[in-house]
Amino acid sequence: MEAISTQPVKGTRDFYPPDLRLRHWLFGQWRAVAAAYGYEEYDACVLESEALYVRKAGDEITGQLYNFLDKGDRRVALRPEMTPSLVRMIMARGAALSLPARWFSIPQCFRYERMQRGRKREHFQWNMDVIGLGTVAAEVELMTAQLDFLRRVGMDDAVTLRVSDRRVLEGFLADLAITGEAFGAVCVIIDKFAKIGREACAAELAGRGIDSRTAGRVLDLMHLQGIDTVAAVVGAGNPGIASLRRLLELAGAAGIADRIVIDCSVVRGLSYYTGTVWELFDITGEMPRAIAGGGRYDRLSTLLGGPMLPMAGFGFGDVVIMELLEARGLLPELARGLDDVVYPLAEEGFAAASALAVRLRATGRTVQVDYSCRRFKHALRAAELAGASRLLVLGPDELARGVVTVRALAGRDERQVPFAEVK
Ligand code: HAM
Repeated sequence: MEAISTQPVKGTRDFYPPDLRLRHWLFGQWRAVAAAYGYEEYDACVLESEALYVRKAGDEITGQLYNFLDKGDRRVALRPEMTPSLVRMIMARGAALSLPARWFSIPQCFRYERMQRGRKREHFQWNMDVIGLGTVAAEVELMTAQLDFLRRVGMDDAVTLRVSDRRVLEGFLADLAITGEAFGAVCVIIDKFAKIGREACAAELAGRGIDSRTAGRVLDLMHLQGIDTVAAVVGAGNPGIASLRRLLELAGAAGIADRIVIDCSVVRGLSYYTGTVWELFDITGEMPRAIAGGGRYDRLSTLLGGPMLPMAGFGFGDVVIMELLEARGLLPELARGLDDVVYPLAEEGFAAASALAVRLRATGRTVQVDYSCRRFKHALRAAELAGASRLLVLGPDELARGVVTVRALAGRDERQVPFAEVK
């Protein structure tokens, strides 16, 4: 038989114990921030109905689905994002759910993407969402939480929040007779502006029936930054402008206004956003992908057949942030958390070793028994590598005398302690 490849499926990752320690550390930071803001954790199955992701606007995510027909002829998909599952769960609860609610999750998501720096076919994504609040105070709270996390990991001075409001563009495009579904489709296309460039965007807009003059006017907006500059072009009466001004006011009070740049080129590639949209970028621009993205999506529930429900939230992936933290030397050294290694020199010592380990574990210590019977110097080296603080040796001499040789691995201090007194 041909040997099986030991590589994980292309675009997916294996997490060896040191990698998993780091992943748990990251998730711990995310959970701590979400808890500090009073968000409750939820989860759903990674397998969802494909119908949840079918959108007419041409969202890239729809073309990237890991989807298949199950054995009961149901069309299912591995979730590419958590938001539709969240909306489904909220809709299922209906009026029984007390609103506003604040929920968070750390789902694994799958997208059949072209592999590039910061992008894989599987990633974990920290989501925080506010359900049932129609004010931009929700967005400011969410942005503040993102920056709190970055402060915790030593990176908050290295990011900028690029913020816009879909209604800025919506109002502008409505004047050019682009409304409804066509608007969502235009957003999906111009979200790719930075990636594919002006000409390719213009070509895709033409494919959606938008003439070149109109396309030119839309694409000119992509260079506008700063609330006053944007307002001067789209008109101060635009509802998106009023909302962004309020957002900046509240962001000032929250102490995060200096991190925000109003930037018309931020539209986000998901067609369901209806108001504020934002992305978090590394200030150096060294990493071409957004660190995180979020927005307001007050009508996603109606697209799924439910009543309108104001919602806002963000997704924050593990891939880009871990790469940035590593590049900056900000990843912590995480010990295995092993206290003791009990080392019987030979099989005769196994029973005493296991009894000692059981007793020590009952006191709360983490204890491993080295049953390998390898030579002392190898057992010692392995215990040191594992980060243990003590090696407890049980050789024939110790067994005969009812003692344990307790060796402190840091200072190399060594004492013989009666078996019953080892703590
Ligand atoms: P998104 O912009 O598609 O938004 O993804 C959010 C974040 O997930 C990205 O900024 C990135 O950090 C990470 N991410 C996405 N795709 C990949 C990938 N292929 N590889 C690595 N990381 C990736 C959403 O998914 C929305 N559902 C977020 C949201 C929650 N909006 C409201 N609530």
